[in-house]
This record gives sequence, C-alpha cells and structure tokens, in this order.
Amino acid sequence: MKQTVDFINMKQREEKIVVLTAYDYPSAKHAEQGSVDIILVGDSLEMVVLGYDSTVPVTLEDMIHHTKAVKRGAKNTFIMADMPFLSYHLTVKDTLIHAGQLVQEAGAHAVKLEGAGEVIEHIAALTRAGIPVCAHLGLTPQSVGVLGGYKVQGKDARSAQRLLEDARKCEAAGAFALLLECVPKQLAEKVAKSLTIPVIGIGAGLNVDAQVLVYHDILGYGVERVAKFVKSYQKLDASISESIQAYAADVRTKQFPEEIHSFNMKEEELKRVYG
Ligand code: KIV
Ligand code: NA
Repeated sequence: MKQTVDFINMKQREEKIVVLTAYDYPSAKHAEQGSVDIILVGDSLEMVVLGYDSTVPVTLEDMIHHTKAVKRGAKNTFIMADMPFLSYHLTVKDTLIHAGQLVQEAGAHAVKLEGAGEVIEHIAALTRAGIPVCAHLGLTPQSVGVLGGYKVQGKDARSAQRLLEDARKCEAAGAFALLLECVPKQLAEKVAKSLTIPVIGIGAGLNVDAQVLVYHDILGYGVERVAKFVKSYQKLDASISESIQAYAADVRTKQFPEEIHSFNMKEEELKRVYG
C-alpha cells in the first residue's frame, strides 16, 4: 500500500496518481482491483448513493459506516475519507475527535476537508496529531449555499491569486495533498508547480499531479447526467435496466426458475412426507 510520502515522491518523479471514489464493499473491491493509488470515500456519497441533492446532509455516522465498508473491500489501498459538513468548523478539539473517529474507528488513512481561512488551523492541528489531511479548494460543494451553485472557481485574477495563497497556506499547515475542484487548468497548473505536495484535480485539467473522479460517473451507474469534466467509461445503467427487465419478464412468463435453479427431494422422502 502506498503512503503519503510515496505520493510526494510520485509527484517528484512526475508519475501521475490515480484517485477514485468508493462508498461500499463492492466499489472498494473494484477500485483496488483497478489498482487505484488512493480511494476517496467522498461525501458525494450523499448524492450518488443516498440520493440527496447536495453533500450538506452528510453525517459523521454516514461517513464512518461507509468508510468501514470500503475498508473491508480494499485492505491494501490508501483510504481517504471526507469530513462531513460542519464537522471541522467548531473547536479544534471537536475536529480532532471527529477525524479521530474516521481514522481510528472506521480505518481511514487520511481525511479531507474543504476550504482555507479558519480551516487552516484545523489542518495544522490534525497534522500535529498524526492524521494526514488533504485540503480541498476551488469548488467546495459543502459551501454550495454560499458559492451560489456549482460553478468554476478562480476564473478572475483576484480569486485565482487568493486560491494560490490559500493553497500555500494549506501546504504550510501540513496538508499532505491538495484537491482542486473545477478551476481553470492554467490556475491548477500554477498551483501544482508552486507546491511540493501533490495536487489532485477534478475539472482542473491535465497539468496537476493526480486525477480523481466519482465511481458512479465513470461507470454510468445511477447518474442522470455528468459534469463536463467527467469521462465515462461505461453505461452500466442501460445494462442493469435490461437485466432487471429480463428477470421480471422471466418471472412473469414462468421461465424462471428453471430446473437448474431448483432443489429436489428424493422419491422415498417425498413419499414419507406426502404419502
Ligand atoms: O466527495 C467527493 O467525491 C469529492 C470529489 C469529487 C473530489 O470530494
Ligand atoms: Na467531497
């Protein structure tokens, strides 16, 4: 299993780091079999698995429950878990307790949290306590209410400059990686070049150190539409629906179960029961 230091070395060697989300036992097994470097138990869980329309409703219990399942499916992959909305905004002590549960109880190797500003102090405290932190800047979905929608961030000089400064602060606070979501590729490249820690991009162009996508998006599994930055490798929804329709038709037309799906009783036993 790769560790945080390996990711920094990979960046130095210009070797791309592969990150994929997973939320349960089967998706974690798929991710590990697909040899991803890092599994992110994202709070996108709330949307793609639990059907909410944002990541705001996520609870620590949700994250613990799903991280445990991922851990059972991927015993040899570095697992990073999202800290839920408002779970790292109260006191540093609360943040440590919450992150501690994700690491100690659920088995995550690292946590991810969104934003800079007040959050920087929490990144530093977690790192000091021995919990690796991935910072998340750019489009930070937990702040969708403040950002006014899911929009590309850092498009003008001022916000780009601020993002670069925030990125430097995250690194200085001890973050082992930085995730950049939905920012212009030129800005993402600049940030990646300015930092020693790996920059994981999603909608951030090619010139960053790592890429992350959502499991359901790359597989076309349960998603109606995907964002511009997603590449889909499968359309699972279509074949799943077809399979379920075929099953329903088999049941209704008595073509299932067949002899091979059924259990038999010996004649003599039958007689003893039914005479
Ligand atoms: O929750 C998530 O899946 C994420 C990635 C999309 C970056 O944070
Ligand atoms: Na997330």
